Amino acid sequence: MAIRNIVKQGDPVLEKTARTVLNFDERLAMLLDDMKETMYDADGVGLAAPQVGVLRRCCVIDIGEGPVELVNPVIIEKSGVQNESEGCLSLPGLYKTTVRPMKVTVRANDRHGNVFTVTGEGLMARALCHEIDHLDGILFIKRAVDE
Ligand code: NI
Repeated sequence: MAIRNIVKQGDPVLEKTARTVLNFDERLAMLLDDMKETMYDADGVGLAAPQVGVLRRCCVIDIGEGPVELVNPVIIEKSGVQNESEGCLSLPGLYKTTVRPMKVTVRANDRHGNVFTVTGEGLMARALCHEIDHLDGILFIKRAVDE
């Protein structure tokens, strides 16, 4: 495993749409392992592949309950609303209140290509929405409430 460089706001890779993962191979496994190591090293709760310069639809999340790896994640259900403070490893030191669903259910592949669903509320729902937004080139400041 290796810690990768986290790209910062201003890098065009953060505004591009990531491509669907088709090959569930060693290269993907290495990417996910590196992303987890990079996230933990940076004390983040989530990291998306574009943040390490890779335009593939995958992300990792750990809100303190163990790591979750999501490949090709799609939100299939959402409910409620929450306005909470949010930050991003690509915009260090910046925190803004965003509007997010209170609860989301996401369908994704695991690193082997198996389909699973995960439901998150509160912080987990925010993390899921935040990371999936990264795969569509959307930064959290676009979800910020005017203050
Ligand atoms: Ni982020």
